[in-house]
Amino acid sequence: MSGAGPASPATVRVIREIPELRRHVDAARQAGARVGFVPTMGALHDGHLSLMRRARAECELVVVSIFVNPAQFNDARDFERYPRDEARDVELAATAGVDVVFAPDAGAIYPPGFATSVSVDGVSVPLEGAYRGAEHFRGVATVVTKLFNIVAPHVAYFGQKDAQQALVIRRMVRDLDFPVTIEVCPTVRERDGLAMSSRNVRLEGSDRARALALKAGLDAAAAAVADGVRDPRNVVARATTAMRAHGVEPEYVAAVDAATLAEPETLRGETLVAIAAAVGPVRLIDNCLLDVPA
Ligand code: PAJ
Repeated sequence: MSGAGPASPATVRVIREIPELRRHVDAARQAGARVGFVPTMGALHDGHLSLMRRARAECELVVVSIFVNPAQFNDARDFERYPRDEARDVELAATAGVDVVFAPDAGAIYPPGFATSVSVDGVSVPLEGAYRGAEHFRGVATVVTKLFNIVAPHVAYFGQKDAQQALVIRRMVRDLDFPVTIEVCPTVRERDGLAMSSRNVRLEGSDRARALALKAGLDAAAAAVADGVRDPRNVVARATTAMRAHGVEPEYVAAVDAATLAEPETLRGETLVAIAAAVGPVRLIDNCLLDVPA
């Protein structure tokens, strides 16, 4: 038996430079390791950690990136106020058994003269694409492309919390033949149902309670479907009423085909209910998947 107990602290290696990250991952790959990757913007919470634990369970080398990507913020103030605490993030990543935190500087990701972008048509257009503008998912697709090229993982883990983002990434990977498997993991919630988000720390006073409007809207939509409602407009109306009862006006509520994000005449099969709303100074999103019987 080894003398090291189960409590021996995990050590995380923090790497900032692309060539060093590549050397490190290449060596593990050569040794036969399956490489798992979790891209994040830091301010880690249990939602992020659930992806890392899943990667840890399935892969020999787990890489997490922390990079607050300016290109995907449509609102400069949101970018400035995005919570950042790398030391805390590295500690949390260690508790999830992560091997490497890749935390590049903006200059490493966007060198002077940077001129290339990846844009995904179709699934990136409605919902978040309509409200945040095309640059949002273009920024996401471009940085994830770069991160995939840098890390070269076998598997990459994303959260269902950002359902449309996961669809955009899946479409991009399929269309451009990235040699990576995409895994999408369930949304992790606070005890009261609020979906975990890095932006939740900016909810103050009564806004924290009002933020429950999003989950209440999703629950109302699910209840409407359980009651036999099949017209998406009626499902949306029930969700909207539930949100207003919490004092929150939705930016959008949508009940759409989970694969295409198109709104059908009649709901049937895998349906995504997606909601966005500003609660005080914070813009929140949430969603649920419903399997709607005919
Ligand atoms: P970020 O918002 O930090 O999220 C990183 C990953 O964690 C995403 O895949 C997101 O869906 C997942 N996640 C966030 N909250 C979650 C929750 N409550 N439950 C489960 N998973 C959750 O998404 C991004 O960063 C960026 O767009 C990124 C992909 C890193 C590109 O910049």
